[in-house]
Amino acid sequence: MIETATKMTTQEKKILIVDDEATIRRLLRQKLTSLGYHCEEACSSEEALGKLKTYPADLIMLDMKMPGKSGMDLLPELKASYPDTAVIMATAVAESNLAIQCMRLGADDYITKPFNLDEVVLNVEKTFEKQMLEQQIREYQEHLHQKVEQQTIEIRTLFLNSIEALVFALEAKDKYTAGHSRRVSEIALDLGRGMNLSGEDLENLRWGSLLHDVGKIAVDQIIQNKPGKLTPAEYEHIMIHAQVGAGIVKPVVNQKVVEIVEHHHDHFNGSGLHQIVSGENIPLGARILAVADAYDAMTSDRPYRPAIPVEEARQEIERCSGTQFDPVVANTFLKLDNSCYTSGKRQV
Ligand SMILES: [Fe+2]
Repeated sequence: MIETATKMTTQEKKILIVDDEATIRRLLRQKLTSLGYHCEEACSSEEALGKLKTYPADLIMLDMKMPGKSGMDLLPELKASYPDTAVIMATAVAESNLAIQCMRLGADDYITKPFNLDEVVLNVEKTFEKQMLEQQIREYQEHLHQKVEQQTIEIRTLFLNSIEALVFALEAKDKYTAGHSRRVSEIALDLGRGMNLSGEDLENLRWGSLLHDVGKIAVDQIIQNKPGKLTPAEYEHIMIHAQVGAGIVKPVVNQKVVEIVEHHHDHFNGSGLHQIVSGENIPLGARILAVADAYDAMTSDRPYRPAIPVEEARQEIERCSGTQFDPVVANTFLKLDNSCYTSGKRQV
């Protein structure tokens, strides 16, 4: 990319000489053409504007004083319409103050009349060199920006995949939870589509569902696999996983995914443990995940009970609609064909 700017030779450089005096135009043209530059002429600002429509000049040699629109008046217009085109002002020695003013308006350099042609050539070369460096910096910055963006995506994906692998590893340790997050994600996405979610919302739901139980890394395995009923303290201990999980994923996912993980055990009527929001204030992704999670848990074997039949699980979702679950989400779930979701004995 950077090479593109450096490869341009003098033959490819286009110069437009704008001066009302034909002898000056001819003098400049002869000298610059002899050095390999391609030159065109215009005798006024108006003619220059017309020429530029079909002649993409890299540099304009612009006489400051011309009848009609002066070079000074034309300069801001040129800088606005052709910001990448360099401009060298041509002026009488006595007007060098005005030339400096032109440079403040965006001119790249100025030359004084009568011309010393060697000086003119030096100015032209310097201006092209500066233009090329600016172009290189622009291309480099653009390239760098793209590279940083691409690497950020790669690092985030790598980290998310690592957390996902950690979740699967955690689940695989235990026959009761093996494949749970992947199945929940599948159900939640179907349900999300049923709730007319799309694009980024579905992607957030997918990551929220896959990662929702990552906080179980902080849960005591003995309590988690306890065959009998949990004491209130044990239940409270298990439930810390939502908060812990949100903290784990926070550095690498967006806030919406964090909230799905954090609120996935919230009850719609606000009766969940340590819950601070209720109803529609619970993020929609979390309300969807709550139904998908409960359905998969019910239809899977657990240490304290075997899987319950699909129809019974559906009835339980219906029974808890409006209390534990958002009624709209529960209703949408009941309309889905969940015959495709097999029980806890299913293959993952
Ligand atoms: Fe959970």
